[in-house]
Amino acid sequence: MKNMLVTGGYGFIGTNFIQYLLEESDYGGRIINVDNLTYAANPQNLAHLARRFSDRYVFIHANICSRETMAEVFDRFHIDTICHFAAESHVDRSIVQPDAFMHTNILGTFTLLELARERKARIELFHHISTDEVFGSLGDEGYFDEQTAYKPNSPYSASKAASDHLVRAYHTTYGIPVTISTCSNNYGPYQFPEKLIPLMIINARDYKPLPVYGDGRNVRDWLFVLDHCTAIWRIMKQGKRGETYAIGGNNELENIALVEMICDIVDERKRETARGPRQELITFVADRPGHDRRYAIDATKIRTHLNWKPMESFQTGIRKTVTWYLENRQWIDHIQSGEYQRWIETNYTRRGEV
Ligand code: NAD
Ligand code: DAU
Repeated sequence: MKNMLVTGGYGFIGTNFIQYLLEESDYGGRIINVDNLTYAANPQNLAHLARRFSDRYVFIHANICSRETMAEVFDRFHIDTICHFAAESHVDRSIVQPDAFMHTNILGTFTLLELARERKARIELFHHISTDEVFGSLGDEGYFDEQTAYKPNSPYSASKAASDHLVRAYHTTYGIPVTISTCSNNYGPYQFPEKLIPLMIINARDYKPLPVYGDGRNVRDWLFVLDHCTAIWRIMKQGKRGETYAIGGNNELENIALVEMICDIVDERKRETARGPRQELITFVADRPGHDRRYAIDATKIRTHLNWKPMESFQTGIRKTVTWYLENRQWIDHIQSGEYQRWIETNYTRRGEV
């Protein structure tokens, strides 16, 4: 693994993964970050590392769906390893405007697989980052694992499921060395503030309403983003080619309990006695259509086969995350400007949820 293509490296998890590879892991090769800078990307995220690691880090502004450009990237940088994060990733957006999800998540993955197939002799690994949402929704009992049948419910998760099937098929049909990981909800620094945790921290900070969908009793299994990064790197190094690994934090929480917890931490950090406790800002709004009730991962396989476990407890991880958002106002202002604001105005307000 000397020349690793990382797609979507200016998004939330991609940024954390590149930082981890360069600063903390034992990876000694070069990283070629390809990102087409959608609303969710922020090139400032890695500016400090780009200077420090100028011999080992390159950014290319390109769309993974563009076969010609991506072929140039594969050949110019002698790509031997692919770690594929790039995707449209927000369920709510996929409900309103699914087109981009089909292009990037399905056709983009297909394009990369074809380029890998054409250069099969030098490809060591194609690691595909997927999600537990491909499995659909759990009831009160049970867990998702590697044997769970696919049953995606949103255009986002259906597009991710399609990409997983393509990756697996390219292994079975053409012998491309692939691994797939299906991870639960991540949280931590650099997450775009349309997702639950950063949105609630920022709104709570500013005393704005905290929109909780439906009855607030939907459950997610939260994993600190750095733990996801260590799991991905472990799979890339030691995972069996052709196999899938489920990754999770064993940390189920109802949305309402999580939002209350965030309110309490922000109250502690930014107490304004003239205004009441921030839990008063919680506002129940119309439910997300097709809203999956519960996600929970059984991560026995990666734990026992690859000796991986999460290092961050939720209690410490959520505090670190609140602190990061409270201390990085400039990052938030930047990423919330322009394109994002326009999208929010034309779409969310139409649904009457904000
Ligand atoms: P994100 O939306 O924060 O970042 C996605 C990145 O991909 C952005 O930088 C964007 O510019 C880039 N991108 C989008 N379309 C592109 C294209 N056509 N060409 C090149 N770059 C493109 O997403 P994230 O939360 O970091 O998620 C990364 C991956 O992890 C996704 O595949 C997602 O499905 C998966 N995942 C996310 C979570 C989570 O909780 N966030 C959990 C499990 C799996
Ligand atoms: O499970 C992994 C998935 O986690 C990833 O594949 C997705 O890319 C990622 O976006 C995330 O999907 P979710 O839909 O679970 O995340 P989101 O932050 O959008 O919502 C988390 C829960 O909070 C969900 O039950 C919906 C609810 N919610 C969300 C928002 C944005 C609210 O109640 N209010 C909100 O304003």
